[in-house]
Amino acid sequence: MLLPTEEARRAAGFLERKMGGWEAFPPQAAVVLGSGLAEACPPMESFVEVPFSEIPGWPASSVPGHRGSIRLGSFGGKGVWVQFGRLHYYEGHDMTTVTLAVQVMHLVGVRRVLLTNAAGGLNPLYVQGSIMLVRDHINLMGENPLRGVRDPSGRPVFLDLSDLYRRETADRLVQESAARGIELHEGVLVAMAGPTYETPAELRFLRVVGGDAVSMSLVPEAIVAHYLGMEVTGISVITNVWDLRRPLPLSHAEVLEAASSASRLLRELISAWLEISP
Ligand code: HPA
Repeated sequence: MLLPTEEARRAAGFLERKMGGWEAFPPQAAVVLGSGLAEACPPMESFVEVPFSEIPGWPASSVPGHRGSIRLGSFGGKGVWVQFGRLHYYEGHDMTTVTLAVQVMHLVGVRRVLLTNAAGGLNPLYVQGSIMLVRDHINLMGENPLRGVRDPSGRPVFLDLSDLYRRETADRLVQESAARGIELHEGVLVAMAGPTYETPAELRFLRVVGGDAVSMSLVPEAIVAHYLGMEVTGISVITNVWDLRRPLPLSHAEVLEAASSASRLLRELISAWLEISP
């Protein structure tokens, strides 16, 4: 299998026709807003919003708290793609579908992507509403989005991930957030397949192996975006903190509510990221 897929090419062609070409605002940067984070959308001067359901071959989002659309327009005179919601592995999609959006971004010219999500805090320093810059990840989804993918010469993809979450950009974002007085934690994100939340024993395990936060998304898209040559940044909003000695029950509704209340700070950080020139 080659990436981008034919499906991604068809979706990219559709978006290009819908926008009447990319001359006005060719999207250079993309932001993916995860569960409950729609309010963190940066202020755009003008945009066209396209629901996933309009795009040929693009499954609708089935998760409450995920709007399922893409805003194509401009921010500070630059073309941007802002995506509300994503497709998850736990919804039953295969990894090619989970990473469809980043493949399409690549095809329409996006060079930098900021992936956000909601995550559970494992690091005892985190509180509900903390924001964590993803410095690295541990992929425990039991799947890799590049499995079965061949490079154009037919070889499997042995991709270097030593600087997946581009250090230079991450360092600049840390400086920007300090300048704006926003507390930004830096940590390791663990990705689980979901849709169950973790058992108490799993939570202790994830902390022991080096996780600062745990989620069910972001990592597959980060890997494929990196493979396609995009600069990747990851930000997790800590929607719940786990007491590792005695984890309390957690619901999706609580996750959404906490995500929404952290959106204002996240919006500032997203604007700062968009202003960092490539
Ligand atoms: N675990 C997994 N995914 C999550 C969590 C969690 O605690 N919180 C938000 N997404």
